Amino acid sequence: MAGYEYLDENRLRVGRAEMLVDWLARGGSVDDLVIMKPPALIEQMARTLAEVEPRTIVELGIHRGGSVAAIAELAQPDCHIAFELADGRVQALDAYIADTGSEDRIHLEYGVDQGDTLRVAALTDEHRGPAPIDLVFDDASHLYGPTKASFEALYPRMRPGGRFIIEDWAWTDSLATAMTQSFSELDADARASRAATVADDLRALADEREDTRLADAADALRAEPTTDNLVRAARARAPFAEAPLSALGIELLLAVAEVPDIVAQVTITPDWIDIVRGSADIDHSFRLADVLADHGAVIPLPRNGR
Ligand SMILES: C[S@@+](CC[C@H](N)C(=O)[O-])C[C@H]1O[C@@H](n2cnc3c(N)ncnc32)[C@H](O)[C@@H]1O
Repeated sequence: MAGYEYLDENRLRVGRAEMLVDWLARGGSVDDLVIMKPPALIEQMARTLAEVEPRTIVELGIHRGGSVAAIAELAQPDCHIAFELADGRVQALDAYIADTGSEDRIHLEYGVDQGDTLRVAALTDEHRGPAPIDLVFDDASHLYGPTKASFEALYPRMRPGGRFIIEDWAWTDSLATAMTQSFSELDADARASRAATVADDLRALADEREDTRLADAADALRAEPTTDNLVRAARARAPFAEAPLSALGIELLLAVAEVPDIVAQVTITPDWIDIVRGSADIDHSFRLADVLADHGAVIPLPRNGR
């Protein structure tokens, strides 16, 4: 298995590929591969590839191609399928594939929403043939609904012991924590002023969308500028309004307790959720909600939908 080395602080060589390391992904030109991961995550990814030695990989989220080339170099899988919501091809990645003659091994599918389970499943089956998936890296939307949808589509297609990695699962929670901290450090006047700005902005959006839920959150924040109301207002307008991705992590932990033959192990670090597939045959119509018991709804999870 190839290794990797830093040429300087922001430039990485992985086997035959060179790329910028830019987790905010703002630098470089269209000729540059860019990997949008901090160094600790690149190391975690390399270690996982060395452990699993995958022959068939699915990757969700191509962005500027760096992770595809890095994974291809580190693991040299027979079949590497990568999905991306955006339509535009990544020129630097096409050049890498042509230069390395990897056309038969790397399959790029642009314009595919990870939440479109039928397309994700059909394209995966088309490229992998009968080979089960050994490893999935999901670094795409980081939203509860689409992440859960592609998990349910791909998980039954994995081999027992295969690993499914969901990156950046905690971003909404970290954001809420940071927001809460900075808000609580303000004095009462500054807090009221910041709350009023957020409330005005939210109210304008509520009026534009005729959305009473947003309007209620704005009014509550204006009436009481507490940290709880600030976080509620932020959540109400965000794309993660229905559920944060961390809810999926909690569901998966419950699955280890209830159906370990399906979800054998879950390891959670601040950066990712690492799921080990159990040994059960899993039907392609798999839905997590169908295998988790209610538990008297002790934990109010959004289990009955995506
Ligand atoms: C964090 S970037 C991926 C970075 C890449 N894996 C790397 O390490 O360099 C997330 C990518 O996922 C894509 N994305 C966002 N939502 C998606 C969805 N619903 N389905 C598929 N891809 C999506 C974005 O367009 C973006 O290119």
